Amino acid sequence: MSKRLYIETVGCQMNLLDSEMVVASLRRHGYELTDQPQQADTVLFNTCSVRQHAEEKTYSSLGKLKQHKQRHPQTTIGVLGCMAQKDQQLIFARAPYVDFVVGPGQLQEIPKLIAQAKSGANQQLAVGLGRRDGSLEEIKRSHETFDPLRDPQMRSSPYQAYLRIQIGCDKFCTYCVVPNTRGPEQGRPPQQIEAEARVLADQGTKELTLLGQTVNSYRHTAGESTTRLSDLLGRLQEVEGIERLKFVTNFPGDMTDDLLHAVRDLSKVSPYLHLPLQSGSNRILQRMKRGYTLEVYDEMMTKIHDTIPGTAVSSDFIVGFCGETEDDFQLTVDAAAKYRFKNSFIFKYSERPGTRAADRLVDDVPLAVKQRRNQELLALQNQISEAGNQAFLGRAVKVLVEGPSKREIRHPSSGELVQMTGRTHCDRIVVWDGNRRQSGQLLAVTIFDASAHTLFGQVVTEHVGPEVFALRTPDA
Ligand code: SAH
Ligand code: SF4
Ligand code: F3S
Repeated sequence: MSKRLYIETVGCQMNLLDSEMVVASLRRHGYELTDQPQQADTVLFNTCSVRQHAEEKTYSSLGKLKQHKQRHPQTTIGVLGCMAQKDQQLIFARAPYVDFVVGPGQLQEIPKLIAQAKSGANQQLAVGLGRRDGSLEEIKRSHETFDPLRDPQMRSSPYQAYLRIQIGCDKFCTYCVVPNTRGPEQGRPPQQIEAEARVLADQGTKELTLLGQTVNSYRHTAGESTTRLSDLLGRLQEVEGIERLKFVTNFPGDMTDDLLHAVRDLSKVSPYLHLPLQSGSNRILQRMKRGYTLEVYDEMMTKIHDTIPGTAVSSDFIVGFCGETEDDFQLTVDAAAKYRFKNSFIFKYSERPGTRAADRLVDDVPLAVKQRRNQELLALQNQISEAGNQAFLGRAVKVLVEGPSKREIRHPSSGELVQMTGRTHCDRIVVWDGNRRQSGQLLAVTIFDASAHTLFGQVVTEHVGPEVFALRTPDA
């Protein structure tokens, strides 16, 4: 009889990737996925701690299972990921019906933990070492991930895949839990990364997104030779079947010329950089311990646009950080207006236990003020994103087709037509009326309308040669 697994994932791309791997390993142990927790005999929550809201979401989902577990004690419940690493025993205290708690570095133990839980083991805890709880090597080993198991069925599109190249983070921005939950920064060996890229290409992946918390700081040293991200991109450019390469998230202080040259010179590398500024005020950047000033960021942006004209840059911002005044916030608004990011993720500061900001700074901006600043910055960003997208009106872009859009709008009058979605090389979302057979293709789409988040297009069906891309869309 097949065993049924339900898994719920919150958090960043790292977590999506981790869930993919957990599912892949459990399929090998005879599990099948279900989308109903009540029908599962194993329920897993892959959690995030970056903001309090993310934790609350998980506790609320867990709460919904309390009665179910009482009635069906044979159901195994596991909590994985960053909140598992951060809260450890606390999770058993808040949700005593949880069977095991597993950190991001111990995910390979899950099949064993499930088997032990099913044969009556007490609550089990498997987590990585704290940042002061051993030698650097021991701590690193305890946060290492198990990456080569891939499950194409877990991806939203079979043509896109994430590939982790770096584990952990050493930046210790004062607001952030990640250096604690994911451990020390370590670059994975390039041979392993390349081998995994080939496996993914064989499975049909066309777009690879390389993942790291500060992905541009990637380094791997073996003997005399050091591999940087730019070198790695050069190697992955040669992998047959892969058409596009993206990488997130970049750390502004570590943007180097060799990487910009790689983005300029390697045809598969997308002209797109996610480079979170976080704040436009030097005083706040310093309190966040971001390690750069607005002037340094400004120089970097000039260099990016000089080196790779038309590159799309996106950002993250935190509003209402400890001590942020109206003047500080205005500097952030000014910076957003100046840099005209393709899009930005804007977050209200959320104090996280165990971070330097929680220990030493006061979370003194009232929630209502955080909310107002969030809305104001978002409104500005939406205007900028819309104007940026409107520059594409009338142009043809080359889209990697992901599949039918989430809303799956059907057009009953026109037979098979369905709303399809994909992305440009510079990471803009495009939708058009097409058909499912286009999935996975690189398709020319002409844009006739644009909103802040979406380009609306039509497939170019006339006799259009490949030159249309070169002539009309240098940056798409
Ligand atoms: N390593 C990446 C992303 C880290 S988490 C980077 O350095 O950019 C993603 C985003 O969440 C961050 O960029 C930041 O904008 C936001 N974030 C992190 N901690 C936060 C906190 N305590 N409160 C609110 N937003 C936070
Ligand atoms: Fe967190 Fe800063 Fe590391 Fe990003 S760079 S993960 S924000 S500590
Ligand atoms: Fe959240 Fe962990 Fe990612 S805290 S943002 S899931 S690295």
